[in-house]
Amino acid sequence: MKYLILTLLPAVLLICLTLIFAPDGNIKNDWFRFLGGFHPLITHFPIALILFIPILEIAGLFKANINTKPVIDILIKVALLASIAAPLLGWSLAWGDGFSGDMVTAHMWAGVLVPLSCGLMLLAHKSNQMFMYFITMVVSVLLVSWTGFLGGQLAHGKTHLTAHMPDSLRNVLGIEKPIVVALDDPNTFFGGRIAPVLAARCVTCHGPDKIKGKLRLDSFAFLNAGGANGAVITPGNSTTSEIHRRITLPTFHDDFMPAEGNPAMSAEEIELIALWIDQGATLDIAAEAMAGAPVIDISGLPLEVIIPDYDPVGAETDRAELASAVAEIQAKFPYILNYVSRNTGDLDFNATMMRDKFGDTEFALFKPVLSRIIRADFTATSITDASEELLLGLTKIDNLRLNETQLSDQTVAKLSSLKTLRSLNIRNVNVSAATKNKLATIEKLYTN
Ligand code: HEC
Repeated sequence: MKYLILTLLPAVLLICLTLIFAPDGNIKNDWFRFLGGFHPLITHFPIALILFIPILEIAGLFKANINTKPVIDILIKVALLASIAAPLLGWSLAWGDGFSGDMVTAHMWAGVLVPLSCGLMLLAHKSNQMFMYFITMVVSVLLVSWTGFLGGQLAHGKTHLTAHMPDSLRNVLGIEKPIVVALDDPNTFFGGRIAPVLAARCVTCHGPDKIKGKLRLDSFAFLNAGGANGAVITPGNSTTSEIHRRITLPTFHDDFMPAEGNPAMSAEEIELIALWIDQGATLDIAAEAMAGAPVIDISGLPLEVIIPDYDPVGAETDRAELASAVAEIQAKFPYILNYVSRNTGDLDFNATMMRDKFGDTEFALFKPVLSRIIRADFTATSITDASEELLLGLTKIDNLRLNETQLSDQTVAKLSSLKTLRSLNIRNVNVSAATKNKLATIEKLYTN
C-alpha cells in the first residue's frame, strides 16, 4: 500500500495541478518562467530512460547469464522520477510564460500521463505481473515518444521533421509541402502585404499551434481580436498601437517583439505596418492602395502560404455585367469601392476615410452596383435617412457598419429586412430598445 501511494500519488497530484491551474496564456511570476527554462533540458531524461527499458529487456533475452531485473528496477524508478520532474517543469513553463493553444494542451496531457503509466509499470514489475508490466511498458514508450514529438513540434515548428525533406522522398512518402498559414485575400493590403510579414515573423508564437499572450496573428480577425491585454492596434494611430510599440522597442526590452532573441523586424516591415494602421487598419484597403508603401519580397521570408486558387475566366464572367459601372465609380472615388477578391464580382465598400464629405448625394452615385456589395462601412460619414432606399438596395450585404451616423431609429429598424445581413455595427447611433429587438435576428449586432 505504501508503495502504491509512493508511486502513484505524485502522478495524481500532477494531474490535479494541471487540471486546476491550466495554463491560461497570461505571464506569471518570474520563478515559474525560470524553473520552466529547465524543462527542455530535463525532458531528455524520461525519454532516454523509458526507451532504455525495453532495450534492456530485449538484451536480457539474449544474455541468459545476466540478471537484468534489479537493474531494470532501478531504471524504472529513476525514469519515474524524471517523468515527474519533466512535466512539472513543463507546466511551470507553460503556466509562467503564457502558453496556450491546442498543441500545448495535447503535449501537456500526454506528458502528464507518462508518470502514471510509469508508476503502474513499476508496480507491475515489482509484483511480477508480467502481462501488466508489458502493457504499461508499451504504453509508457508510446506516450513518452508522442509527448516528445509534440514537444519538438512546439519548440521547432509543426513541420520541423519534414520541412526540408527532399522533394523526391516527399513524393514517395506522399507528404505534402508544409503549409503554415492560409492568408486573407491577397488583394487586400492586409492579406497581400501585412499578413505574410506577420506569418513569417510572428505566427510561430502567435499562431494556431502555439498562442502566446493570448494573441494570434494569423488572420485579420485574430489580429483585431487582440491579446491578453486587449486590442493591439488603434486604427488610425500607429504610435499608440501596442503592436507598433512592441516592434519598435530596443531589442533588449522585455516587451520587445518578436521575443526570445529573434531578429527585429526590418525598417520597411515596421513602416508597412505603421502605414496600414494609420490608414485605418481595415481589411478593405486594396493591396495597391498606398503608393509609397515599401515592398517586401515575400519570397525571401521563411514561410509557405496558401494563396486561394485564382480563376481569371470565372472572375471576368462574374464581373462582366457591372464592370463598367464599377470602373466609373472607382475613377470618381478612388479606394472606396473594391472587389472583395480577385475571384469574384462581389464588392467591398468603405467610405470612412471621406468622413462627413461622404453623404447622401455621393452614395446615390453607387446605385448601379448596390446589389453586389457584400461589405459596407459608412462609419462617421454624413449619410441620413434620405439614403434609406439605397441602403435597402444592398440586397447581398453581409457586413454593414453604420457607426456614428445620423440615421434615425426608423431607418435602422428597416434593415431587418436585409436577408443576407449577418453583422451590423450601429455604435453611437440613436436606436431604441424596440429596434434592437427587431434586429436581434442578426447574428452579430454591435450597439452601445
Ligand atoms: C518567440 C516567441 C514570440 C514571437 C516570435 C513573437 N512573440 Fe509576441 N509575444 C510572445 C510572448 C511570450 C508574449 C506574452 C508576453 C508579453 O506580453 O510580452 C507575447 C505578446 C505579444 C503582444 C502583447 C499581447 C497582449 O495583449 O498582451 C504583442 C502585441 C505581440 N506579442 C506582438 C508580436 C509581433 C508583432 C510579433 C512578430 C513581429 C511577435 N509578437 C512575435 C512571444 C513571441
